[in-house]
Amino acid sequence: MRITIFGATGLLGKPLMWESKADEVTGLGSKDADIRDVAPVRRAIANTHPDWIVNAAAYTDVDGCESNQQLALAVNWRGAVNIAQVAKESGARLLFVSTDYVFDGLGTTPYEPDHPRAPRSVYGRSKAEAEEEITRISPDACIVRTSWLFGVGGKCFPDTILKLASSRSTIDVVNDQRGSPTHAPDLARAIISLCHASAKGIVHATNSGDCTWFEFAREIVRSAGLNTVIHPTTSDKFIRPAERPRYSVLSPASLHRYGIGMPHWKEALRNYLSIRNAAERSSSNTSAPGKP
Ligand SMILES: NC(=O)c1ccc[n+]([C@@H]2O[C@H](COP(=O)([O-])OP(=O)(O)OC[C@H]3O[C@@H](n4cnc5c(N)ncnc54)[C@H](OP(=O)(O)O)[C@@H]3O)[C@@H](O)[C@H]2O)c1
Repeated sequence: MRITIFGATGLLGKPLMWESKADEVTGLGSKDADIRDVAPVRRAIANTHPDWIVNAAAYTDVDGCESNQQLALAVNWRGAVNIAQVAKESGARLLFVSTDYVFDGLGTTPYEPDHPRAPRSVYGRSKAEAEEEITRISPDACIVRTSWLFGVGGKCFPDTILKLASSRSTIDVVNDQRGSPTHAPDLARAIISLCHASAKGIVHATNSGDCTWFEFAREIVRSAGLNTVIHPTTSDKFIRPAERPRYSVLSPASLHRYGIGMPHWKEALRNYLSIRNAAERSSSNTSAPGKP
């Protein structure tokens, strides 16, 4: 299978490249093809003739989107629509990566894919409107919503907590937002499996289980063997430009229908920590004085 990945330099894009090794894969970052313009997208697809296009490119700075709405819409809506149009012209199947932020977060039970979209932030709106337009352009597109992405090689919550914990004895973390952490390599494997399964429609894909950010932080520190104490706090103590969903657990039923399951987030966290430790060891070995 030939796969072309937009957003290949990102947190998800990097493991997507490793996980699709068995396929003929091309990865593109913004320097290779700026998706805000249709011409570079068209050129990239003409050069690579993919069976599947995976769009993991986005402007993901959720707070930045509030102050830079034009950029949010240009990348997350216009860019996604450009890719959908070119996918249709070229006959390639499309998988678009989306987010739990398309929901308002007022739910109390896991969201199913057909739950009405009601984004509360510019980022969420840009992705929700892209989903709607993509579905109009390509009714057989696959839209994979995920949440709370973490992984080695990018800015993410566990990395922030571990860095803070190395210099602080206590950290306050909000305990009134619940979701499902998702390790990027697990999601990448699920995405490639969905392409192979010829998936269509909206699919929810996260690590299994759910927690609050406080519970996640406590488990990060515990699993890393650190003594930093994590204190629960509330979102009103951390006012941020973009509103976060209070509850954004995504039901796994749509993923299970394709016979695909994802590990529990605690197991995913252990894998992340061992990959992170190995990466740190190898970078300290190569930078050690006297090494050839
Ligand atoms: N991070 C999360 O917690 C989270 C949660 C739910 C859903 N998602 C979704 O998951 C997907 C992957 O997110 P991520 O965290 O991997 O993102 P990321 O690490 O921020 O990477 C973003 C990627 O998009 C590319 N990109 C940005 N602007 C572009 C442009 N104008 N033209 C072409 N490419 C552009 C970047 O390319 P360069 O680096 O080359 O500029 C990079 O490869 C996104 O669709 C995001 O909305 C993320």
